[in-house]
Amino acid sequence: MLTSASFQCRQAGSGNEALALLESGEEFELMLSDLMMAGLDGIGLLEKSKEKFPDMPVVMVTAVHDISVALAAIRNGAYDYLLKPFEREQLLATVRRALENRRLKVENRTYQTNLESLVTARTEQLRKAMANLERSYDITLEALGDALDLKDAETEGHSKRVTAFTIAIARHMGLTSDQIRVIARGAFLHDIGKMAIPDAILRKPGALNADEIAVMREHCFRGYQLLRRIPFLGEAAEIVYSHQEKFDGTGYPRNLKAEEIPLGARIFSVADTLDAITSDRPYRPAQTVKAAKEEIERWSGRQFDPEIVRVFLSMPDKLWEDLRREIDGSGGGFS
Ligand SMILES: [Fe+2]
Ligand SMILES: [Fe+2]
Repeated sequence: MLTSASFQCRQAGSGNEALALLESGEEFELMLSDLMMAGLDGIGLLEKSKEKFPDMPVVMVTAVHDISVALAAIRNGAYDYLLKPFEREQLLATVRRALENRRLKVENRTYQTNLESLVTARTEQLRKAMANLERSYDITLEALGDALDLKDAETEGHSKRVTAFTIAIARHMGLTSDQIRVIARGAFLHDIGKMAIPDAILRKPGALNADEIAVMREHCFRGYQLLRRIPFLGEAAEIVYSHQEKFDGTGYPRNLKAEEIPLGARIFSVADTLDAITSDRPYRPAQTVKAAKEEIERWSGRQFDPEIVRVFLSMPDKLWEDLRREIDGSGGGFS
């Protein structure tokens, strides 16, 4: 009946024969299977073919007395059943319905797979765009930092070193990469407010008088004002504002104390002192990391957060020496 209706058919004499045919590599769009068969019966064949060929609908062909078994087969994943003996029209209608059902299932899956790969591709594009944007941000930051270096030659390399030192301590403290990114930007730009300080004060060779010190101290707030309106620098701006505060509340400009000072600024403070002590100054040569550690430990709880000092002291001297050599040698590199 099926062949005369132009379907291409293959026949198998038993469950096992059918299974062998299914596994021969030939593709089948539909299986009509008897229930009662020697060896592998219809239910067994259904089970095996469902797990290997989930898209191929199975129609159980059964005698009236097997109807409850046929219903059980449908619960197990058969598409439909045909009662023997059947009419030609009944057979063709069932077969066409089953094939249509298969077509829809395959089409739907293809659509979903396409949708998934489309979503994956778009997500990847977005991720790349974000990464590009982030890179542009950091290049912009470097340009800002370089602008400050041009104005205040004494800070050259200082921003980059202090950033690297701050990142190293933050990592050692186990902060997340998102937190570290914010803190790094704050550290890198900490003195950006010095752009607003007159050269006569910024570059004055001798000691500053009280008025000049007051102007100089404005650099924290000036930096904060400059950065806070830039969306991706909002949090970093808080660090810039607080970078001269001291743990015991004797810093400036707001006399913040302990946890009132953003964590990033507290970490920065240790990194900044390390850099100051281990850098050459007009009035003294660079000192060792060991000397810096002693000094920082002495001020733990006063200038510095004791917890951060504890972490800092546990880090090897060589790390700081390597970082400095790397940055001073390569001319820097913020990221
Ligand atoms: Fe500063
Ligand atoms: Fe500084």
